[in-house]
Amino acid sequence: MCGIIGYTGRKNALPRLIEGLKALEYRGYDSAGVAFVHKNGIKAVKSKGRIALLEEKLKGEQESFCAIGHTRWATHGEPSDVNSHPHGTDSVYIVHNGIIENYAVIKEFLTEKGYSFESETDTETAAKLIDWFYSKEKSPISAIRKALEMISGSYAIGAVFEGYPDKIYAFRKDSPLLAAPSEDGGFITSDISAILRHTREFIRLEEGEIAVLSPDSIEILSTDNTPIERDFETVSWDIEAAEKGGYDHFMLKEIFEQPDAVKKTLSPRVTDGLPTLDITKLAGRCVGELGAIHIVACGTAYHAGLIGQYAIEKLARIPVKVELASEFRYKNPILRKNDLVIIISQSGETADSLAALRLAKERGVRTLAVVNVAGSTIAQEADSVLLTWAGPEIAVASTKAFSVQIALLYLFAIRLALDSDTISEEEARQYCTELTTDVPAAISKALDLTDLCSSTAQKYKDNSSIFFIGRGASSALAHEAALKMKEISYIHCEAYAAGELKHGTISLITDGTPVFAFLTNRSTADKMISNIREVKTRGARVMLFCREGMPIPDGIADDIIPIPSLSQLFMPMSEIIAAQLVAYYMSCHLGCDVDKPRNLAKSVTVE
Ligand code: AGP
Ligand code: GLU
Repeated sequence: MCGIIGYTGRKNALPRLIEGLKALEYRGYDSAGVAFVHKNGIKAVKSKGRIALLEEKLKGEQESFCAIGHTRWATHGEPSDVNSHPHGTDSVYIVHNGIIENYAVIKEFLTEKGYSFESETDTETAAKLIDWFYSKEKSPISAIRKALEMISGSYAIGAVFEGYPDKIYAFRKDSPLLAAPSEDGGFITSDISAILRHTREFIRLEEGEIAVLSPDSIEILSTDNTPIERDFETVSWDIEAAEKGGYDHFMLKEIFEQPDAVKKTLSPRVTDGLPTLDITKLAGRCVGELGAIHIVACGTAYHAGLIGQYAIEKLARIPVKVELASEFRYKNPILRKNDLVIIISQSGETADSLAALRLAKERGVRTLAVVNVAGSTIAQEADSVLLTWAGPEIAVASTKAFSVQIALLYLFAIRLALDSDTISEEEARQYCTELTTDVPAAISKALDLTDLCSSTAQKYKDNSSIFFIGRGASSALAHEAALKMKEISYIHCEAYAAGELKHGTISLITDGTPVFAFLTNRSTADKMISNIREVKTRGARVMLFCREGMPIPDGIADDIIPIPSLSQLFMPMSEIIAAQLVAYYMSCHLGCDVDKPRNLAKSVTVE
């Protein structure tokens, strides 16, 4: 949530900030603002809405060589000019990502000291607290340290101080923040993709550290303010990976990247036709000693967990529980010492998933992270990590991250099963061959469905509600398909295990109600067809995601999208492509903002 950028150097900071904020906009887009040092002090310019509006407001501003900027995902106070960041005083301005949990207490403390507040944000209290200590201590570092003693919550903060016109101060807890050198100055940023035109090297700030950026140096101070040496990390992907590359939207580009992303994630982990994953290393114990597996995640990653559950339970016969991270952390989960907690997260920064990981560690349970962003907090804190190599995912709606997550869970399930002797080596080889060759081919074939998915979306776009039904893993997939449709097209969608509709929800089916049904599972096809008939008889307009070649009885479908066939286990990998494409085109036809749907942000770093 929220994007932070700052620059101090020998070039005009403002164009660099606008360019960076545009790249960070996917992290939050309620409002944007900058604070820049100019000859009379520090000036803040902010605007509700998109970066383009801020850019307009900044036209005609004089050059500045030191500035901080922010694109906001509001948590405290509505999106408005006044609630936009940066917040501050004549002496200090800050940009903040996260939540100051005890802002009310700080506000009271400062009000007694004579401060007044113009915004409803928690951030303004932190800015003014730093200002209060700065007025006493006269040193930015001491002011920051004193303020942090009082602040509780999560934060990544960039600050500029009057009296230190070429310096940016940066520090963090729970939310990510990077410091990066370039040829003409130094940057702070929430995400390296925002500054890839200027540098590929960066330092990931650790909790408790303060980074002090000057045009020619980046100094990192440890908790006791002694300077520490840190090696730079280098970004391994190109700027093109973070750009649209000719596609209308990042989401479409990322949908099309799936065959490659899956190959990239799997190929290095298969040797001589078998998964090379070392379960003993990953799970901290050999398979025979492994208890239950708990998969914990949010949103799309949670749905990937549900598919993983089917695969692990089917192949390895090990019990798997899949839990929403936001619930897991407050339910006093039953975790036994031989269990394994798997956290799935694209960003590796999701607050709820991170808290679940920390809870599992506190309980002494082994943790494994399946994460797309190397070096993210979850990747760093988990006992072991399996990186999904999907490259940067920019669109808020997650697509390629989901595919690589389930691909990796399949591979994990095959290895577990082989080590548990629940499948033979020959079966494992067959599964691996299918996963590494047939699955990417089926995904590529499913991508040829774009025109059909677009015309199907066109037919259903005026509906206010759509039901998604499926059985087995396809019922988990129905939930992911519904989430995708809801988040980017704003159409109300409900997902159900097909057999469950008649226990209540079928009362909502009337003449013309759209039902999108997944008819892909051969073993439960008859049951699924009966469920489809049940809704059809009540007037539903049925759109079938149907496995290619599956016989379809007359009269059960109004529209059909044929899904490239795979063995039952892997069908979700080709089903999801069609579901993503229909959601994508639905959003386009309705004129929605595909990559940045309302009220959302890419990485949810607050509870
Ligand atoms: C997916 O389309 C979502 N925008 C969202 O559900 C996302 O999957 C969820 O917030 C989890 O994010 P993570 O994978 O980065 O942890
Ligand atoms: N809590 C702050 C606010 O609402 C920061 C939110 C963010 O991370 O964008 O302004």
